[in-house]
Amino acid sequence: MTSSTQPRPVPPAHAVAASHRLVVLVSGAGSNLAALLDAHRDPAYGARVVGVVSDRPGIAALDLARQAGVPTAVVALRDFPDRAAWDRALTEAVGVFSPDTVVCAGFMKLVGAAFLGRFGGRTVNTHPALLPSFPGAHGVRDALAYGVKVSGCSVIVVDDGVDAGPIIAQEAVPVADDDTEETLHERIKVVERRLLVDVVGRIARHGLDVDGRHARLG
Ligand code: GAR
Repeated sequence: MTSSTQPRPVPPAHAVAASHRLVVLVSGAGSNLAALLDAHRDPAYGARVVGVVSDRPGIAALDLARQAGVPTAVVALRDFPDRAAWDRALTEAVGVFSPDTVVCAGFMKLVGAAFLGRFGGRTVNTHPALLPSFPGAHGVRDALAYGVKVSGCSVIVVDDGVDAGPIIAQEAVPVADDDTEETLHERIKVVERRLLVDVVGRIARHGLDVDGRHARLG
């Protein structure tokens, strides 16, 4: 028996950190979501996906979430009179899951003022190019059209710009002469999934410090 004068046993770090709640925002295939769902099965990862929210019904990412037993919600722009109303509804839908961190993983909409008012500073986004080059919805296509020899992926803090927030981590991927948008994107996505899983886990276990343009993993 433990007497009241003895120190209480300290739980292993992952037992504490595993309560870090992730909500993942998706719009499409969900391969980055799948990587996060794989990672969260290990308690040592320190974070778990507690909700998946999409702006589109019927996408593969929602099926992946359901198969993993994670609750989902769909907040489609067309169901709201304007973007501000959609953004408020998105904020509420995400808020239901009380996330510590929100992960935009192939989420192809910009979040607005209501969302950033509640989740700003703890929302991250993965992008398939080396920011600040080639932001926006066609990062791979734009990099290829420009003729770059090296592209890659970036994980950033979401702010009110287009892929403009502080950069948390980046990794380079060489461009081959015969690359198409599809082949380059597939190679980037292999690296991107690993980087995103690593960054999100480190945020959960050690925290994220953002000072102006500078984001550092704890
Ligand atoms: C990912 O490559 C992600 O970086 C990109 O969409 C893909 C989603 O793949 N996002 C953007 O381009 C955002 N600007 P997934 O649905 O298989 O995870």
